[in-house]
Amino acid sequence: MKVQQIYDTVADDFGLVNQLIFDRLSSHVPLVEKIAQYIVESGGKRMRPLLVLLTARALKHRGEDHLKLAAVIEFLHTATLLHDDVVDTSDLRRGRATANARWGNAPSVLVGDFLYSRAFQMMVELDSMAIMNVLSSATAVIAEGEVLQLMNVKNPDISEANYMDVIRSKTAMLFQAASHSGAILSGADEHTEAALRDYGLHLGLAFQLVDDVLDYRSSAEAMGKNVGDDLAEGKPTLPLLKAMEHGNEEERQLIRRAIRQGGLDQLERICGIVETTGALDYTMQLAKDHVDKAKSCLTCLPESPHRESLFGLAELAVARSA
Ligand code: IPE
Ligand code: IPE
Ligand code: MG
Ligand code: MG
Repeated sequence: MKVQQIYDTVADDFGLVNQLIFDRLSSHVPLVEKIAQYIVESGGKRMRPLLVLLTARALKHRGEDHLKLAAVIEFLHTATLLHDDVVDTSDLRRGRATANARWGNAPSVLVGDFLYSRAFQMMVELDSMAIMNVLSSATAVIAEGEVLQLMNVKNPDISEANYMDVIRSKTAMLFQAASHSGAILSGADEHTEAALRDYGLHLGLAFQLVDDVLDYRSSAEAMGKNVGDDLAEGKPTLPLLKAMEHGNEEERQLIRRAIRQGGLDQLERICGIVETTGALDYTMQLAKDHVDKAKSCLTCLPESPHRESLFGLAELAVARSA
């Protein structure tokens, strides 16, 4: 399935969500609006709102609340990006200078807070305690995931289980919350609600696993963010953990040193090692396993173009180059 086909399934909804996102950025403080608009208008794949829309439509949701829910999720995502780029000292996002590179850390953190809060204001308008419960828990877990990862920085001795814990929290949780809350909004029965929740979880895990591969395999032009950002920070992602496990002694020591010190001196060498040791292939295979799990969660849905697009979205998570 082509990417465009997936978006086309909910094209009208998608346009309305984009409009809503811009409408709800308003603030009487000019710099708030400026920075919020800057990051939102630079695009992004909008995968999480897409997930909300497809879930709602696959479950025959009626009304317009799903549009608001989709916008809420994208606001939460955008807030985490503003904060994440400060934490990661990244200077490229969505093909542009990051907000922190342009305006500094302080405004980025504060506007991130604004977007979080605006998301919660809109969540209140949805008037559902069940959805509030899912989304407020998710944001707490995401913050925990980012802190957990921070504690792992420059430590080459973390386990694969610890890494999985980090990506489940920092990334998969929001995908899970998107499909889960979409199912709740649509009045899904208990079984379907759980299936959609798990679909989001596995999709999110696959998505971040691939993201961690792309950090060594892709290009800044394709991704709109810099290659090697993870290594620069000394982030022990799965490709590095696997390369240490399967590499020879010299390779292992080289990677250990690179993680301990951070920096990009050894990027080229390490890009070679993660390929030759099969570490990137291993990570991709794990991502594919999660895509299969995600897809198997969809069997409880009635056949529809939206269900097909949810299948397509899972495949896109591993087929993407950006
Ligand atoms: C970036 O997410 C953060 C991660 C979880 C890797 P996306 O790759 O979905 O970012 P945008 O919204 O498309 O820019
Ligand atoms: C993404 O973290 C997760 C969140 C934004 C919470 P990363 O740091 O791995 O993602 P990129 O590479 O900056 O997009
Ligand atoms: Mg980052
Ligand atoms: Mg990060």
